[in-house]
Amino acid sequence: MSKARVFLPGSTIGVMGGGQLGRMFAIAARRMGYRVHTFSPDEDTPTGQLADREVAARYDDAAAVRDFARRVDVLTFEFENIPVQTVEWAAQFCEVRPAASVLHVCQHRLREKEFLDQAGVPLPGFKAVASAGELAAAVAEIGLPAVLKTAAFGYDGKGQRKIAPGDNLVEAWAPFAGTGAVLEQFVHFEKEISVLVARGADGQTATYPVCENVHRNHILDVTIVPANISPAAEAKARALAAGIADKLGLVGLLAVEMFLLADGSILVNELAPRPHNSGHFSFDASVTSQFEQQLRAVCGLPLGRTASLSPAAMVNLLGDLWADGEPDWAAVLAMPEVKLHLYGKAEPRAGRKMGHLTAFGATAQLAAERALAARDALRGSLGK
Ligand SMILES: Nc1ncnc2c1ncn2[C@@H]1O[C@H](COP(=O)(O)OP(=O)(O)OP(=O)(O)O)[C@@H](O)[C@H]1O
Ligand SMILES: [Mg+2]
Repeated sequence: MSKARVFLPGSTIGVMGGGQLGRMFAIAARRMGYRVHTFSPDEDTPTGQLADREVAARYDDAAAVRDFARRVDVLTFEFENIPVQTVEWAAQFCEVRPAASVLHVCQHRLREKEFLDQAGVPLPGFKAVASAGELAAAVAEIGLPAVLKTAAFGYDGKGQRKIAPGDNLVEAWAPFAGTGAVLEQFVHFEKEISVLVARGADGQTATYPVCENVHRNHILDVTIVPANISPAAEAKARALAAGIADKLGLVGLLAVEMFLLADGSILVNELAPRPHNSGHFSFDASVTSQFEQQLRAVCGLPLGRTASLSPAAMVNLLGDLWADGEPDWAAVLAMPEVKLHLYGKAEPRAGRKMGHLTAFGATAQLAAERALAARDALRGSLGK
């Protein structure tokens, strides 16, 4: 494929995956006059509801993938766990950004860690594990506590288990049998942070201000921007992310999840070669949202400015919020500093990401208080 083709408004972008990341991408792309087609196994998806065309087919349906690719100019992703074979079928007919090689690295935890390690990126200690015996050997090497993670297809903490001293390793291994896994040193971090970085077709990179993230039950709960960290940590985190994007040869958007330690050092947790939940603040609070930036990068356009318009906080709205009926939307819509996002998912299952709120404030801390108060208000005045 040619090196740096540019796709101007009027072009058609294909999105693999049908979730909320594709939905917000579609909003950004259509705003700028692009056409959006989406491909996923489901119908009436969050992305499909906003796209010009929704294709519901399996990722291993070669004919459907090729037909989809024939009708788009450039293909990108909102979900990285697409078989590389699928991407190769598509690449016969359209430009694919980021390249299959980037997905190949990022969709497999062990490959990703080996890539980062070879690139000289600081990581928590890790070891590949393929059996209960190897788990015991890895524990002896890495020490406890540690976290055992599946090598592929993990998200929101699924496919993870913390291992503490005294745990039975044969039992701990049982649910992982038959899959590759990685044992990782448990990190006593001070903060979790993430950096979004875009890299254009010309190799130019742009990083966003660092996000500070709080997880609950392994799922992102709150993000504040700017992170309450030192200027040195901010600069180091952004440089680390830009360096990783360069090493990957990325054309597109990448989120780098990191642990910030009390001594100021930073360890990289994982990569996501697509928009990221922690970047949702940017939809409302940045000169260029992460979704517009993804569009700019994959279309070969100059990158947009990443500065924030205001300190901001984002809180996720999980399906649990619907436990006692429909949330009290009127309560948050009455709050002028709060933005409501809903993803168009019909079924509010517990733990499912249904939407988010973004709040502005004079400081990120004040924005976070506002966002949390708004989420409480959704539960109704009875404080359910
Ligand atoms: N080695 C570790 N030490 C301490 N905490 C960890 C470690 N690994 C993971 N965690 C905690 O679990 C969370 C989820 O882990 P990780 O990012 O690896 O999982 P994931 O399933 O890929 O999740 P997602 O795709 O939602 O980011 C982390 O954000 C962090 O809070
Ligand atoms: Mg993660």
